[in-house]
Amino acid sequence: MKNFTSVDDIQDLSELVALAKTIKAAPFADKEIGKNKTLGLLFFNPSLRTRLSTQKAALNLGMDAIVMNLNTEGWLLEFEDGVIMDGNKAEHIKEAAQVVSQYCDIIAVRSFPSLTDKQKDEEEQVINSFKKYASVPVISLEGSTEHPLQAVADALTIEEFKTVTKPKVVLTWAPHPKALPHAVPNSFVKIMKKADVDFIITHPEGYELNPEFTSGVTITHNQDEAFKDADFIYAKNWSNYIDYGQITSKDPSWTVTTEKMALTNNAKFMHCLPVRRNMIVTDAVLDSDASIVIEEANNRTYAAQAILTKILENAG
Ligand code: CP
Repeated sequence: MKNFTSVDDIQDLSELVALAKTIKAAPFADKEIGKNKTLGLLFFNPSLRTRLSTQKAALNLGMDAIVMNLNTEGWLLEFEDGVIMDGNKAEHIKEAAQVVSQYCDIIAVRSFPSLTDKQKDEEEQVINSFKKYASVPVISLEGSTEHPLQAVADALTIEEFKTVTKPKVVLTWAPHPKALPHAVPNSFVKIMKKADVDFIITHPEGYELNPEFTSGVTITHNQDEAFKDADFIYAKNWSNYIDYGQITSKDPSWTVTTEKMALTNNAKFMHCLPVRRNMIVTDAVLDSDASIVIEEANNRTYAAQAILTKILENAG
């Protein structure tokens, strides 16, 4: 694996999940692979899980990890070519990416979308610019359109908790007070399309995700119908994709409740976190045995460690 910025970079999901399981069973077994290597973690946005789990994954592999909050601690970066840099942007990505490549053997970047300019967001300018100008592999810590490390952790969690060979997995929209990106649901959809699951998406009318991600997947606007016989409920809010970045519904009837979970086949409840209690899901569900959100977050370390291992193996 050269870069990891999309679920599309996974060649064999079963093999990757098996590697993550092996790593989880013995997280410190391969301390030599990262010896004298440095992971640079660059954040343009806040994080708890991604930052700590990816750093821990690097440490588990014997790597050093350097973390920088670029939005608050670095020079403002210019990403456009050919501009006269007479504004507030002090450094061009061309130099910045090459310089960081001299300090780090792998660069990992988090950069959220604007949610105001769909075309620009879909260009993934920040992560793609690092890929273009860095001379070392690049990992996405969540870009404008995908959160692939989260998706690997989700696939690992489903593999661990499934009780039937081909579980029914439901991705359900749920209400939220702020406009949220599409990266988590997009990558979850992509990875579920690669997994051996019966997958269905449910959301209010008008909340369709980008059809480039959801093509071929069953979609229903009837949440109760979707929940019937489900083995996993994966809740997530996203802002409107058609009316780009807008909140056009906060319908509380879409909150995941005990009554809705009762429609399922004793389903496990999943969410990438952070989660808004009693907006996305009620306290009763989140605090119940059905919730596996903490286990899911724990798997972020082993997902990241599996990806770092694949990249380090490729680097030789
Ligand atoms: N799930 C996730 O990416 O969490 P953070 O935003 O805290 O990193």
